[in-house]
Amino acid sequence: MDSELIEAAKAAAANAYAPYSGFGVGAAVRLSDGRIVAGCNFENASYGLALCAETVALGSVTALGGLRDVRTIAVTGGRIVKGAITGGDPVRPCGRCRQVIFEAAALSGHDVEVICVSADGSTVESNRISDLLPHAFGPDAL
Ligand code: THU
Repeated sequence: MDSELIEAAKAAAANAYAPYSGFGVGAAVRLSDGRIVAGCNFENASYGLALCAETVALGSVTALGGLRDVRTIAVTGGRIVKGAITGGDPVRPCGRCRQVIFEAAALSGHDVEVICVSADGSTVESNRISDLLPHAFGPDAL
């Protein structure tokens, strides 16, 4: 398991801007050249405009020209209690984020690993995007 990547996701979660849900999430992407790119969720007073951590991280990856080079993404988070991210359940990407991760997987032909981690570190779960989003709609369908 990529513990450096998990730590990067945890560090990003600490910067979550989530005053409305009170739920902070961090995501960190490992690229094929070893670089790590992180993101956190980013909410808005217009609630529906919230951006998820995975999407923020993959947007930054895209800005670096690395969408084809995504290999692994770690996700963690939980309820924010007195400024700390808490909880024992792993955060699994929402449906939209699975679709966004799938795009990177389809571009590279690499079945991206998604490591889902609980805030307290008690649960670390390795998944493949093909399992999280089977029968996906992707660029090949167009
Ligand atoms: N959230 C993420 O950042 N990633 C996910 O995969 C699930 C949900 C965020 C969105 C929102 O800011 C908060 O968690 C509560 O849904």
